[in-house]
Parts: sequence; C-alpha cells; structure tokens
Amino acid sequence: MCGIVGAIANVDVVPVLLKGLLRLEYRGYDSAGLVVTNHGLQRLRTTGRVAELSKLVAQQNTCGLAGIAHTRWATHGEPSERNAHPHFSGEKSRIAVVHNGIIENHEEIRTHLKNQGYEFTSDTDTEVIAHLIAFKLEQENNLLKAVCLSIAELQGAYAIAVMEETHPERIVVARNGAPLLIGVGKDGNYVASDSSALLQATRDIIYLEEGDVAELHNRDYRIVNCLHNQLGEAVERTVHESYLSNEAIELGPYTHFMQKEIFEQPSAVANTLEMVFNAQSISPNLFGSEAEKVLSGTKHILILACGTSYHAGLVARYWIEAVAGIPCNVDIASEYRYRNPIAHPNTLVIGISQSGETADTLAALNYAKKLNHQHSLAICNVPESALIRQTNLRFLTRAGPEIGVASTKAFTTQLASLLLLTITLAKIHHRLSKDDEYRMIAALRHLPVALQNTLQVESQVKVWAKSFATKRHALFLGRGVHYPIAMEGALKLKEISYIHAEAYAAGELKHGPLALVDSEMPIVAIAPNDQLLSKLKSNLQEVHARGGELYVFADADSQIMESKNLHVIRLAEHTGLLSPILHTIPLQLLAYHVALERGTDVDKPRNLAKAVTVE
Ligand code: F6R
Repeated sequence: MCGIVGAIANVDVVPVLLKGLLRLEYRGYDSAGLVVTNHGLQRLRTTGRVAELSKLVAQQNTCGLAGIAHTRWATHGEPSERNAHPHFSGEKSRIAVVHNGIIENHEEIRTHLKNQGYEFTSDTDTEVIAHLIAFKLEQENNLLKAVCLSIAELQGAYAIAVMEETHPERIVVARNGAPLLIGVGKDGNYVASDSSALLQATRDIIYLEEGDVAELHNRDYRIVNCLHNQLGEAVERTVHESYLSNEAIELGPYTHFMQKEIFEQPSAVANTLEMVFNAQSISPNLFGSEAEKVLSGTKHILILACGTSYHAGLVARYWIEAVAGIPCNVDIASEYRYRNPIAHPNTLVIGISQSGETADTLAALNYAKKLNHQHSLAICNVPESALIRQTNLRFLTRAGPEIGVASTKAFTTQLASLLLLTITLAKIHHRLSKDDEYRMIAALRHLPVALQNTLQVESQVKVWAKSFATKRHALFLGRGVHYPIAMEGALKLKEISYIHAEAYAAGELKHGPLALVDSEMPIVAIAPNDQLLSKLKSNLQEVHARGGELYVFADADSQIMESKNLHVIRLAEHTGLLSPILHTIPLQLLAYHVALERGTDVDKPRNLAKAVTVE
C-alpha cells in the first residue's frame, strides 16, 4: 500500500526520493508526491506513476537538501491530486506531512480543528494530522514535541514523516502500527517504510518501534518513545546492517518480478528448509526456544490469515489433521476478528503472512490473545515485521523480498514451513517413527529439485494460455488437499488477468456449478494420483459429458488420456505430501502467461496493493 521515503543530506535529495519511490511502486499506489525544502516548501503531486513525478521534477528543476515523498493507495477520498500526499497546514510556518495507515478518529479531530479555524482542502485523514501538528506547534514551538503531542491524540495504525518550512534542517518521523525505518548514511539520514527504498543510500538501518518519534538532521538523529510519556523519553535503537542484496530487489534478466519469483521458488524453498537439509532429525527449536514445550501441550490449532496465505493455511489443515492427528481450524482473519469464536484450551494460534503487516491478520491475532489463547506462532517472510514481534513462536520463510503483487514464492515457502511444522508436531505427539521422520526429511530435501523439474512445464502451459486469454470465466477443480490449491490457482488467474475464476471442491460440482459448464467455460482440474483420483475422474466425466473443455494437470501416473476437449499436462509421478506444493507451479505459470497474452500489468494489477496495511 502507501510508501514513504524521506531524506536529509548535504547533497540534493530528489534523486534518492524518486529512486526510493520507484522501489516502493510494487506495494501498489494510485498517486505520488513529494515536497522538498528550497527557499520554502516545494510540492509536486500527480495521479500518475512515479515516472510522471520524475517528469514534473525535471520540468520544474526541483531540488533540495531535505524532502519527503509518498506513494498513496487511496483509502479516505478518491485518487486525485488534491488527495495526494504531502499535505500542508499552517500559514506562518507551513508544515508538510506524508502518512501511511489509517487514523480511526479523524472525524472527531477534524471537527475540533475546524472549530479552531483550520480549513480542509482534501478528503484525507492525513490532512487532519497536518493541521493537528500545526495546532500543537503553535503551543509548543518545537516540531518534535508537537508531533509527540499529536500522536497522543491519534487512534489507528500509522507511520508519518513531517517537515517544517522554517526549519528545513530537520525531518520528524513517527511510527505506530505501520512499518517505518531510519537509514543512517554517510552523506545524510533517511527514512522509509521499507528498507528496499534505502539500499541505494545506506545499509545501516534502524527499525523504529511502536511509539517511536525521531528527529533526523543531515549529520545526526535522536529518537524518543512516547508510549509512557506524551513528550517522549530518549531511547537508543540498534543499527542493523541490511543484508538485502541488490539482485534480490532488481529484475535481472526477467521481464516481470512475478516471473522472477516463480522461477526463484526452488532456491526460496531450499533457503527456507536449509536448516533441516543436513539434519538426521527435526528440532522443534526451529520454531523458537519455547517451541518444544508449547507444541507438546498443543491440543488444537487455529490458523488465521488472508488471501494466498489463507490458502496455505487450508492446505496445512489437511496435513496437520492427517499426519499429526491434531484438530485444526483455519479462519479468514477479517472474519475471525468480528466473530464470537469459542476458544479451545491449549490452542496454538498460527498467523501466516508474507508481509507480516496485513492489518486484518495482526488484528485477528490480537483478538485471539484477548480470547485467552496463550500461544501463537508467526509464519512470515519479513523478519522485522509487526507479526514477528507479536507472537511467542516464529518461523521465517526465507523467500527473499517478494515484489510482484501476486504472491508466488511466499506461498510455496509457507507450504514448505507448514509441512515442516506438521512433521514436528507429529514427532512430538508420537505419531511418527524414526524411519518416517527420516523419509520425510529426505522428501523435503528433494523438494527444490522437484520444483525445478516442475517448472519445465512452462512451454506447454504457454500453449494453453493462448486459448484462456480469450475467455471471460474459468472454473478450477480440486479435491482434498488440492482443493485449496485450486483456490490459489483461481485467485492467481483473477488477480493478474482479470478473468473471473472460481474454485470448487470437485465433489461440489453437481450441487450447483455444473450449470455453468458449456463450451465457453474452461475448467482447470488438478489431478494428482492420490486416493481421491478415481472420485475426481468421475467428476471430470460429468464435465466432459456436458461439453465442457477440460485442462488437467495430472501426475505422470494418473492415467488420464488426452481426448477431444480434454487436454492434459503431466507432472512427475505422484509425490505424496509434497504434491500440493508442486501442483501450485503450473497454476502460477498459467496465470502469468494468460496475463501476458492479455497485456495486463502483471506486477501491479489494478486496485491491488502488496501489503494490505488497512482494514
Ligand atoms: C494474492 C496475494 C494476497 C495476499 C494477502 C495476504 O496473490 O498476494 O491475497 O496473500 O493480501 O498478504 P500477507 O501474506 O502479506 O498477509
């Protein structure tokens, strides 16, 4: 969603701001803007892309030694120039604010400020922050204090950066619930919502904590925390060296990040499972130092997640119940947080999230805690994210930065982690012999190679993609543990190609969706050679008999033959528990190639954002 970049240095900061915004483009946005100090505050805003903002910069020769910049994903107010950030307030000394997140009590503060004579020129909650800080600045005459006093009145999750016209030598930033980090550089200091925006300038990063407010100058910075004192207490924060490589965030030889990330899956999964590859047995400590105690007392599992991560949770339910024998529920985070669920004692609550910043998932985990669930585990791809800090157990998927909006390598690494968790639970709960454990480790070791081999189906998938590209709807069928994989395939296709796609458990077909089947409706089926194959074949017959065109991803040993209106792409022979992970690959490739055929914006599909940090 929205992105923040700020810089204060002894050289022109505009190139750093623009390059930083380009790095944050992947998060999704619909307007962009910046402000720099150069004989006053100079602001540029556009509803176009960052490239458009760069053109404005060039036309107006914009430069300055300090500036803040933003990409906005509209929440309060339509995407328009007047709603784009930065927002201004103040007459004598103007201030500028950029903001990520949502201010929940903005209406109430707006009314109060209007009564004080402040005029609003946008529909955003951000302008409320700008006026509130200006109002406090009149009382305090110190920007850091004014920001501290303002955030004491703000409710919601947010990150902000603020500049003041008459004090161009500083930028003040604050974090509460939305990520924000400081980059400590040789030529200056920087701020951003994501470290990838700052690698161009520095690798020395400070991850701000909840309630932190920082004042940045070009040579130094200071941080206070406002959680227990409205005016802030000085705090020290560790400077971490970022190991993110430039290759990890650059396209390299690929055309799209989604393509790059699909092909990175063998190495992403290998990195995620690295610590078990050389092991003879699996240690529960992989999930945290308390894991053995917590997992051995676990009688029930509750998984909370959104979107693709939710699909990973659905796959895990089949594994956990079948292999570890532990009852497992999976809930969409945005539903769970507003239900009145019954809390089971000895439940382990698992939050799955690529970004670790998804607002609904974070809120659902908090809610679970309030319902007295004591133990939680994060499965997450971003080490410094809020989710990782919220749970007592954690496992990092080591997929590297995922930049394409459509999640690919995050999903398969989540699945690999959840399979590892399943094996660990089964072992602790005495459901696994030493030999079985050894066999499962061997299977995990084989997974990267199996993924690599599965990617070979690309050329066949490309041929199918041509006929899909002209369709308006598609159905995806799967059974058992492959039903969530069908859901994931449908989600991938709809989000990047804009073809309406739905997934059904194949046994449900005749209970309604069969009515949709005609020659215009392509039906994708996942047909592994598992215990449900014969049932699935009957379901496919039902479709075939009604003139439906079937596109089947079968295992080599599934014994499904091509015929008129029945196309088959064969993967390797059945791989048991690994099968859902491998069957994901052709579905990702299908969505990618259909989107290419249709000419959509693969990495930045319309209306979507990468990290959904608002409700
Ligand atoms: C789909 C997709 C989304 C995310 C969802 C949760 O391709 O990427 O459905 O999976 O927004 O995001 P995380 O995993 O960051 O919590």
